[in-house]
Amino acid sequence: MTRHAIVTGASRGIGRAIAIGLANRGYSLALNDIPAQEAVLLETIAEVKKLGGQCIPVLADVSNIGDCQRAVSEAVQGLGHIDVLVNNAGILKLAMIDELTPEIWDQTFAVNVRGVFQMTQAVVAHMKERRYGRIVNIASLAARTGAPGQSHYAASKSAVVGFTRVTSMEFGGYGITVNAVCPGIILTEMGRNNLRDPDRVTYFEKITDLHRLGEPEDVVGPVAFFASDDSAFVTGQALNVDGGIFYS
Ligand SMILES: NC(=O)c1ccc[n+]([C@@H]2O[C@H](COP(=O)([O-])OP(=O)(O)OC[C@H]3O[C@@H](n4cnc5c(N)ncnc54)[C@H](O)[C@@H]3O)[C@@H](O)[C@H]2O)c1
Repeated sequence: MTRHAIVTGASRGIGRAIAIGLANRGYSLALNDIPAQEAVLLETIAEVKKLGGQCIPVLADVSNIGDCQRAVSEAVQGLGHIDVLVNNAGILKLAMIDELTPEIWDQTFAVNVRGVFQMTQAVVAHMKERRYGRIVNIASLAARTGAPGQSHYAASKSAVVGFTRVTSMEFGGYGITVNAVCPGIILTEMGRNNLRDPDRVTYFEKITDLHRLGEPEDVVGPVAFFASDDSAFVTGQALNVDGGIFYS
């Protein structure tokens, strides 16, 4: 049976790698990003289609609840049903506390936390009806440690881990699992912005057991595991995917 997944923030970076990874594993996909990323999203969709699977765009800003509801309904209509939601969309705007504004704080929480809640709420009734679902939330190493300039981001990703635990409790009786992955330093547009200072690259390579930074593809296997039936008895977890920086 072909499984169907929605991936948010899928035009580039980790979301794009997850989309390609799931397509390689036979999934049909509804790929989301913001309207400003439409052209890039369509390029990713063209790449995914070369792998043979079905793939449709669902443009939406996940911080807008109406957009989330429309995106999920377009995905259900386009693919027939949805088995998996990967909440990947996220933003990071570096700001030390003395330069952090309420606007940056609110925008970070609107996308990173409220976006996860809104997409989850939009899809869960459908999953409950089918008594099957896999929800995978992309949190961050920032939920475990964080770094200077990321207080708002670390707080938002810690919120995602808390949200993962409680939705796991609420949805478990319906055959729906909810897990999170906490990527370390991954070389995407966001990751590179975070690493403008070469000393930070050296520092992170040094504190990582594998002595290298991550590639988007490094996140795919753990997400695919949580999206699959192999993880049927695993829920409410947050898995560090950081090459060995943080142990818990
Ligand atoms: N790169 C890292 O080092 C790293 C580490 C840990 C966690 N993460 C998390 O992984 C996820 C993906 O990050 P990335 O590194 O690929 O970043 P990225 O900036 O390269 O990609 C993020 C994608 O999300 C989309 N997006 C942003 N706001 C959105 C919104 N409101 N609605 C829909 N889509 C939106 C962007 O357009 C973009 O395509 C994020 O949640 C991020 O916080 C990244």
